Formats: sequence, structure tokens, C-alpha cells
Amino acid sequence: MTTLVAVGAQWGDEGKGKIVDWLAPQAQLVVRFHGGNNAGHTLVVEGEQTILHVVPAGILDPGTVNVIGPGVVVDPTVLLGELAELERRGALRDPSRVRVSGRAHLILPWHTALDKAREEAARKRAIGTTGRGIGPAYEDKVARRGIRVADLLRVEDLREAIHRVAEQKNFELVEFYRWEAVDPEHVYAQALELGRQLEPYVDHTERTLESALREGKNVLFEGAQGTFLDIDHGTYPYVTSSNCVAGAVCAGAGIGPTRIDRVLGITKAYTTRVGGGPFPTEETGALGEKLRAVGAEFGATTGRPRRCGWLDAVMLREAATVNGFTQLAINKLDVLAGMGELRIATAYRVNGKLTHEFPMTLSEIESAEPVYETHEAWAEDISSCRRYEELPDAARRYIERVEALVGVPVELISIGPGRDETISRTEPFRPA
Ligand code: IMP
Repeated sequence: MTTLVAVGAQWGDEGKGKIVDWLAPQAQLVVRFHGGNNAGHTLVVEGEQTILHVVPAGILDPGTVNVIGPGVVVDPTVLLGELAELERRGALRDPSRVRVSGRAHLILPWHTALDKAREEAARKRAIGTTGRGIGPAYEDKVARRGIRVADLLRVEDLREAIHRVAEQKNFELVEFYRWEAVDPEHVYAQALELGRQLEPYVDHTERTLESALREGKNVLFEGAQGTFLDIDHGTYPYVTSSNCVAGAVCAGAGIGPTRIDRVLGITKAYTTRVGGGPFPTEETGALGEKLRAVGAEFGATTGRPRRCGWLDAVMLREAATVNGFTQLAINKLDVLAGMGELRIATAYRVNGKLTHEFPMTLSEIESAEPVYETHEAWAEDISSCRRYEELPDAARRYIERVEALVGVPVELISIGPGRDETISRTEPFRPA
């Protein structure tokens, strides 16, 4: 039995979905532990594209059970829509392959309305959220007034709970933001129907996880967003509202830290960010546009163009520290082919002072000027390489330089979106 946590080492969109889909045949359980449908995981199998927002990316492997843990916030309409689509395509025949924690908090219509109302009111200082109600749903959870998945099945108490919360939410929506009120009776009628449809999937997922571990199964924990969107370790306040780091698995799935064997950090071969906030190695000119065009850097959830820039080893070192990476995956290496000269940030200059550490405060991060080293790119297309040795020398030198700068071995390399466009240098689930 091995447990492996796969998390993003940058600002999300590192290609976690592809890696989780690739790893899934070696795991029996794939578990999401935080975030919600702000995530967008794009999988390409035999040329067919699937975009998942809340169902774990192991679902396309028929041998896996896919768990949505108590740390996730669930928009039941989105979840059911995704499940229906997977059923329609024949990827999900047995509801027991998807287990949803009854303890996961719900994203309800006032959460999405508040998310949008706040972003609109914040104007220039907007975070650039995905507008999916993530922040407002986590706020209600922490304020101890949230409604959870299991509450959808307790019909006798549901109406009162919805009315109670709606009164407060509508006050904020209407009185503060001059937004339209949400009709609690409509939410209640919908919630009854959503509960009826979700019932076959609802589970005490901590028990499912515990039995899988006792039976010696491999378990893969699938992170969403990325280290620098983490509420504590990210570029606050330009972050999401959950902990995205590997340690969040313990609380968000219900597993002790002693049971985690491996932590796989996932990074792109360059850096992207979607939404507001600082980005020291951002390239706003022609180079940024080239990366966006070649890398097809548009959000899977909102379609927004992603901001693009060079790889940042200062960030990756920080991510390795706060997550305890045992191994790295580098995605989209193919995108760098023909880029001429490649750059990697190895340090920053902050207020005239050289630092090798990721700064603590927003203003320092905003003023950080990257110190680069340069590498020669390779000219040839590498998407047909299947073994590390087949990569051009310059590509291998780039990978090995990242390993040296971050101090973590690069074990997986993705050289195209397809499942088979992956180079593995070791056995990812080997025992710790
Ligand atoms: P929220 O999670 O929708 O509240 O958005 C907060 C910030 O996180 C915004 O900058 C979003 O663009 C960003 N974000 C949230 N989810 C993802 C993701 O899956 N990939 C990349 N960025 C994300």
C-alpha cells in the first residue's frame, strides 16, 4: 500500500488532471480533499477531451473509486451534471465508483451570487475569482452556519435550515450589494430534488478511505488549484479559500499524517497564473503571448486567458518546503521547443536586496525582480519521446537544472496533452 498526494506547485493549472489520470490505473482510490468546481481538469484520452471540475480525475479509469472528501465544497447541480455526462459517455456505470462525503459543505445559489457581487463591487481590487461561490461557501462553513451534503437527505430539517441561512444571505445581497435576492422556496424545492439524485453517491468517506488503506490499496490524493493559491501559504489575498498544500489532505480527507508516503509536486515547464495578484516572472509582451498561444493557456473553468512567464525556481523551492515534495512532475515541456533562449528565475531582488527565498508579504512579492539564468532551448518537437534518454540534450539539461535548483527529483515529464505523451523515470507508487 502506498499513498501519494499530487499537488500543484504554482498557481494552479499545472496539469494535475492529466497526471492524476495517468497515475489512476496504479491506484484503487482517487480522493479530492479541498476546493470545489473552481478547478478545471482537462483530460485527453484517445483524442477525446473531458473537462472535470469536481469529480476526481481518476474517473476515466474503470478500476478506481473516486472520493469527494469532507474538505471539498460541492455545488450539487454541477456535480450531478458532471456525473450525468460521464454516464452518458459510458465512463460511469456504477454509482459506487463515486463517493461523496455527507460532511462536504454545499455551494448554494447565494454563494455564487455573493461571489459575483463582491468581485463586481471590488472593481480594481477584485481577486479575479472563478465566480463559482467558493469563498462564500467556505466562509459559511467556518462561521458554522453551512449546509452540508448529508443535510439534503434530512428533508424534515432542510426547509428551516435554508430559510435561516437565506435570510442572512439575502440581507447582504440586497442591502449591501443591491443585488437580487435568492428565493429560499425555490432553493428548497431544488435541494429536495438534488438530494434525491445525490443519495446513491453519499457516503461516510473516511470509512471508505480507512478500509482501502487496511486492505493495502494504493490511494492517490488529488489536489486542486496550487501552492501559491493556498489560503495560508499563497499570495494572500490573491488566493483561493482553502488550503491547497499537501498537509490539507489530512483534514480534508480524514487521514493521519503518519499515513502519507509520497508527495508529488506538479509544475509546468514555465509559469502561468489566472486572475489577479503578483507574478514575478510574468512576461506581458510577445514572449508571454507566444507561451499562451503555443501552450493553449486559456482557463478550463472560465476560458480566461492565462498570464504567462518563465519558470520560477524560488517559488518551486518554497513549494517543495511547505509541501514536503518527494518527487516532481514537469508538464508541457514540449511547449518550450523552439523558444530560443529559456530563462529560470533563481533568486529575486527585493528593494535592492538579493534573496533566494520567496518573500513573506504581498508588497515584497509585488516588488520582486527576478534574477534569471539562461538556457538554450531545443528546436525539435519532443512529443514522440517516450524515454528520458530520447529527449534532446538541451531538454535534459533543463530538467536536471530544475532538479538541482529545487532539490527534488523530476520523475514524470509530460510532453503533450495525451495520456501516452508522458515519460516516467521511476515507479511513482513505490513504497516510501
Ligand atoms: P476562487 O477559488 O474562485 O475564489 O478564485 C480565487 C483565485 O484562485 C483566482 O485568482 C482564481 O483565478 C484562482 N483559481 C481558483 N481555482 C483555480 C484553478 O483551478 N486554476 C487556476 N486558478 C484558480
